[in-house]
Amino acid sequence: MFGWITEWAFHVHLLMAISWIGGSVFMFVLGVTLRDKKAQQEVYPHVGPIFGWFEVAALVTLLATGFILGVKYNLFTLLMHPNGTEISHALMMKVILVAILTVATIIHFVIAYRTNGKERTRKEQLLSRSSSMLIFILNLFVMHYAIVMRDIL
Ligand code: HEM
Repeated sequence: MFGWITEWAFHVHLLMAISWIGGSVFMFVLGVTLRDKKAQQEVYPHVGPIFGWFEVAALVTLLATGFILGVKYNLFTLLMHPNGTEISHALMMKVILVAILTVATIIHFVIAYRTNGKERTRKEQLLSRSSSMLIFILNLFVMHYAIVMRDIL
C-alpha cells in the first residue's frame, strides 16, 4: 500500500541533496565574492531568512527520506551491528557526519535567526563562521560516502 513512498523516496532524497548542497555552495561563493559591507547589509537581511528556511526544509526532508531508504535497505540493523564491510563503514561514516552536520546547522540557524540585521558579538561571529565552514566541508564527505553506498546497494 505504501510502496510508492519507497519508490519516490530516492528521487526526493536526491532532489533535496542537490538543493541542500547546491545552496551551501552558492552561499559560500556569495560569502567570498560579496565583500562590500554596505552591499552585505542590503542583501543578507532579505536573502538570509529565505535561504535559511529553504535549507531547513531541504535538510528535514533529506533526513526523513534517508530514514525511509534506511528502512527499505535494512540499514539500521547494519548500523547497530557493523560487520567490517565497505558498505557498513560508508553507512557508519555517513550517519556520524550527518549527525554532526545537523548539530552544526542548528547552531548556525539559531545564531542567524537571532542576529539577522543586527550587530553580532565576537563569539556569535566565530560560532556562525566556523559552523558554516564545517557544514560546507562535511557536505563534501557526506556526498562521498553516499556515492560509495549507492555504488554497492
Ligand atoms: C545531509 C544529509 C544527506 C545528504 C546530503 C545525502 C546525500 C545523498 C546522495 C547525494 C545520495 C545519492 C548518491 C548517488 O546517487 O550516488 C544519497 C543516497 C542515499 N542516502 Fe543519503 N544523504 C543524506 C542523509 C541520509 C540519511 C540520514 C540516510 C539514512 C541512513 C541516508 C540514506 C541514503 C541511502 C540508503 C541512499 C542510497 C539509496 C539508493 O541507492 O536507492 N541519507 N544520499
